[in-house]
Order: sequence, then structure tokens, then C-alpha cells
Amino acid sequence: ATILTAPAFAQDYPERQITMVVPFAAGGPTDTVARLVAERMSADLGQQIVIENVGGAGGTLGAGNVAKAEPDGYTVLLHHIGMATSETLYRNLAYETLDAFEYVGLVTEVPMVVTARQDFEPDDFPAFVEYVKANADSLTLANAGIGAASHLCGMLLMQALEVPLVTVPYKGTGPAMTDLLGGQVDIMCDQTTNTTQQIKAGTIKAYAVTTPERLDLFPDLPTAAESGLEAMQFGIWHGIYTPKGTPAEVNQRLSESLQKALADEGVAKAMADLGTAPSPAEDATPEALKAKLESEIARWKPVIEAAGVYAD
Ligand code: MLT
Repeated sequence: ATILTAPAFAQDYPERQITMVVPFAAGGPTDTVARLVAERMSADLGQQIVIENVGGAGGTLGAGNVAKAEPDGYTVLLHHIGMATSETLYRNLAYETLDAFEYVGLVTEVPMVVTARQDFEPDDFPAFVEYVKANADSLTLANAGIGAASHLCGMLLMQALEVPLVTVPYKGTGPAMTDLLGGQVDIMCDQTTNTTQQIKAGTIKAYAVTTPERLDLFPDLPTAAESGLEAMQFGIWHGIYTPKGTPAEVNQRLSESLQKALADEGVAKAMADLGTAPSPAEDATPEALKAKLESEIARWKPVIEAAGVYAD
């Protein structure tokens, strides 16, 4: 194959469809965010963006696939906070997180909600805390595997309540939600992008959010901090990455397209309806995502080590 020099190569980019890897099952929160921005980016770039859902190992399987992909701009990864936590959680990660990717930009930071099956007994979050402490050995918590946002939130919940819960891993909280709705699992901490509709419909119970302030979407839902669980204060930030070696001009073109997608009022409205908001343009840049990833790896490393949680 002829080795194209970056300038010539980047000028015509993109010339064919792009694959956006979502490292969780279809129908979950990450998939929802990806499809929202991919639709607008595709229109701007003039090429189809095909979503490829690669679930498994809490998102690290899909991330690993992109780490190994051709650095030609035609494979991108949309992933969230799990990119940072997996660096500490996994002892044999298939890639060097800070050396295997290039950066496009931040997409959105999504709140999490502590939820339970519809007929869960406690009426409010303080009662939920007491009930879970008293019945921990008979309760199950659903998540999307070690490294998922739902895993991180569940870990913080178990740490705060000082109880272990039997966890049931899924390839994403899309499939996990099916079992929560069916009452097959008891508790799940998941993003508003996946729980808003069910909370409004009353088909699952919501107890608390992980944001510093209450959400306009659910003004009656207390923050976890209001009930003394200050450690449960974090948002699920999402970023777009390309494989190491992808030309800077390509990453810049993708960042421009992402910024246009995030400025689209339809995207802002859709995100607001799901309890979140687009990242500001200055954050939808390679530099901002790189800085966020580095700071979040440093932030969560001691928390995860203190919890003694890891995967081999
Ligand atoms: C997560 O917990 O990280 C979510 O399950 C991701 C997803 O399914 O989109």
C-alpha cells in the first residue's frame, strides 16, 4: 500500500464511511449518546457513520479493538469515564490507555441515578440506605461489567453503605434495564440517558442523583450528597478517540464536526430531555479530552485502590 503523507490524506478526509465503536450493547446510555452525535457528524462530514456495538469487559474490549485499528480516521471510539477507571481496575489491559489513542473531544457529562425495581420496598433514599444495609446479602445490583459507569457507581454505593452486593454484569445497561424492569435484579445505578423514560413512566424507582445539585428534570430527586453520601458525586463524561497515529488534521476535522453537532439545537434539546447537556465547544477538542482523561485517571486511582477492586 502506498503510504499517504498526512496533508494529502487529510485534505480529502473523509472519503468513505466511518465506524464509531460503542464499547457497550445497543440500547444503552453510551449507544444513545453515540447515535445522537453521529447522526449530526455524519451530515457535516458527508459520510455515513456506522455504529458498531462491541460489549464486554466493561468497555475495555471495544476500546481495545479501536486501539488496534488502522489509524486512518475511519475507526473512532466513543467511550466514557470507564476509559479512566479501567486503567486502574484492569491489571492486564490490552492497551496502554495514555499511549494507544489520539483525542477528538469531550461530548457530554451525564448524571447518574440510583434506581431499583418498581416494587422495591423503601420509599426514599434514607430508607433505601437503611434497607440495603439490612438486606445486602439478599439483594442484587446490575452493572455493565468492571469498568462501566454503572460499576463505578455501584462500587461507590457499596463503599458508602459498607455492604457488598451480589453484582450481575451485562454487556450494557440497555440489556440490564430489561431485567430491572422485569424485577430479575433489584438495584442499578445508571445514567439519566438510560433511565429518564423509565423513571417518568414509574416502571423503575429512582432514589437519588450523583450531581452536586438536583436535576431540573427531577426536582424531587435528592442528591446522594444530601443524604450524606458525598463520595457519590461524579458525572459520566464521554469522549471520542481515534487510534494512535491518526493524523492530527483528521482529529481536528472530527473535532470541528463534533463541535457543530454539539451546537445543534436538536442535540441540545434531546440531551436536555435526557437530563444532560452538550460539552461546551472549548471542551470538544483534543487538548481538553486529553487533559480530562489524565486528570480522571489520577482522581480515580486512589479511590479504586482503596476499594480493593480490580479485574485480571
Ligand atoms: C455503563 O454502565 O457504563 C453503561 O452500561 C454503558 C452502556 O451500557 O452504555
